[in-house]
Amino acid sequence: MKKRLITGFKPTGDIHIGNYLGVIKDLIDYEKKFDTFVFIADYHALTTVKDKKELKKNTLEIAKTLLAIGLNPEKTTIFKQSDIPEVCELTWVFNCLMPMPLLERAHAYKDARAKNKSINVGIFDYPILMASDILIYDSEVVPVGKDQKQHVEIARAVAQKFNNQYRELFLLPQESIKKEVATITGLDGRKMSKSYNNVIGLFDDEKTTIKKVMSIVTDSSRPEDPKNPEKCNIFALHKYFSKNQLSDLRKRYKEGKIGYKESKEILAQNINKELSKIRQKKAELDKNEKYVKKILEEGAEKARQIAFKKIQKVRKTIGLKI
Ligand code: ADP
Ligand code: TRP
Repeated sequence: MKKRLITGFKPTGDIHIGNYLGVIKDLIDYEKKFDTFVFIADYHALTTVKDKKELKKNTLEIAKTLLAIGLNPEKTTIFKQSDIPEVCELTWVFNCLMPMPLLERAHAYKDARAKNKSINVGIFDYPILMASDILIYDSEVVPVGKDQKQHVEIARAVAQKFNNQYRELFLLPQESIKKEVATITGLDGRKMSKSYNNVIGLFDDEKTTIKKVMSIVTDSSRPEDPKNPEKCNIFALHKYFSKNQLSDLRKRYKEGKIGYKESKEILAQNINKELSKIRQKKAELDKNEKYVKKILEEGAEKARQIAFKKIQKVRKTIGLKI
């Protein structure tokens, strides 16, 4: 039996190349090795998205992305989180077990508080919902970006707490983080993130991609100045998109034989080349949303069977079933 792998994507905005390189691209390999579950975390998105149209659109966008990168729905179970309401029930069960201070230490909640954002209960409870997503399907491997590490640790703590309190019902999941792409930098040199508005969209058209790449922030070195590639926001992306030219580019940087403008032009060209197939497939799916919805329904059916069985066991274990 293959181990189960799970990951989720929040439908909160356009998918960017940070998401793509950090996690999405590898799903193609994962589906060969694992029983792979990938879902659209629309319940999680509700913590921030209040516009119904936007939520629907973004949800479909992620589904299309997963299909456009070439995931095989026969191998990977692709579904929408909210089609499995059992995760909410499990969240409540876990809520009643976990101590407040554990969640008060969670980065996402602390960040939200520090930014003085108006905080809803959902943001506070976010990691417990995520633990339910993972644990309800007996998932063992959770590929995520570095920023999600703590959430998977909390999921482990939740499983342990339940198992100690009642009986060994949940497997302990493990995060899987690709070291070399732990964090993709954005146009301004900070982590590429929707919330920083510094992203290159996976489905930006070629012109927009070029425009954005040309706007990457650099220092003011002239073309003839020797430059440190490791401190350059453009070079940080060459590492993923210009693999064949990397040693040559590194040399030219160090010897002052390339300007940032040329470096950006090469990068934009390589990004557009690598993404052209995916972008084309996505455009085809845009015209066939019926198919995309059908895939989500089939995925939900499969995921729900597993979740239903698990929640029955939970109910029995904790005394809800009389
Ligand atoms: P964002 O930060 O843009 O809101 P999400 O939180 O929706 O992105 O992230 C979806 C997935 O992509 C998560 O597993 C996350 O860790 C990963 N990810 C997001 N941004 C990056 C990045 N800049 N580098 C690597 N992985 C990322
Ligand atoms: N919290 C994740 C993010 O912001 C999305 C997510 C929700 C998730 N549930 C999950 C990821 C379960 C992995 C496993 O990106």
